[in-house]
Amino acid sequence: MTTRVSGTEGYGETAAERVRQYESIPFAHVHRHWVHVFPTTPSHVIDIGAGTGRDAAGFADLGHTVTAVEPTPELRSEAQRLHPHPAITWIDDALPDLDRVHALGQRYDLVMLTAVWMHLDLAQRERAMTRVAPLVRPGGTMALSLRHGPVPAGRRMFDVSAQETCALAGRHGLTVIHESRGAAVLGGPDVWWDRLAFRQTNGR
Ligand SMILES: C[S@@+](CC[C@H](N)C(=O)[O-])C[C@H]1O[C@@H](n2cnc3c(N)ncnc32)[C@H](O)[C@@H]1O
Repeated sequence: MTTRVSGTEGYGETAAERVRQYESIPFAHVHRHWVHVFPTTPSHVIDIGAGTGRDAAGFADLGHTVTAVEPTPELRSEAQRLHPHPAITWIDDALPDLDRVHALGQRYDLVMLTAVWMHLDLAQRERAMTRVAPLVRPGGTMALSLRHGPVPAGRRMFDVSAQETCALAGRHGLTVIHESRGAAVLGGPDVWWDRLAFRQTNGR
């Protein structure tokens, strides 16, 4: 039996369906509500929990250099096959520790944590923030979204509030620059999302 990284339960088993679902919506449409927080000059982006690579490819197409982190092997291999962009480097690593990412010793202009944070329990979220916040360069941005609503069968997911997330980020130098809430494009009528973006003020 395959041992799954905590938080990834249900993804590898349903990879083909996840690919169909996540690749059915264009990058620009998914991120239309907060595109103004993304860098407009060539930058270094890290996408943590990058899934099928839709966003990694979207950023690469815009001229950014992208590090895509994805611990589910079935999704990572499909993503590499679907989006063989030379500006994307794929890494097999996971929250909360991100040891392989930290071993690279880099900081990023934009850290994407979309649709992944709610897969971590409270202790993991607290640990993850200590590891993610230092990856954001001083003045850089972190964009994080939280899913709310019924949990799909087989997934590990927690109802994580925007309030908790902003308070936790704030303790690591991350100041809120965008907060919005909306219905899901995918996932049914009971699903909705919080979108939070932060600026790293530590080290400025
Ligand atoms: C809902 S998908 C979102 C994928 C992509 N970010 C997007 O918005 O389309 C959640 C992703 O988080 C990944 N994931 C789950 N637990 C994780 C963890 N502990 N560390 C990193 N990624 C994780 C899953 O494998 C999956 O690819």
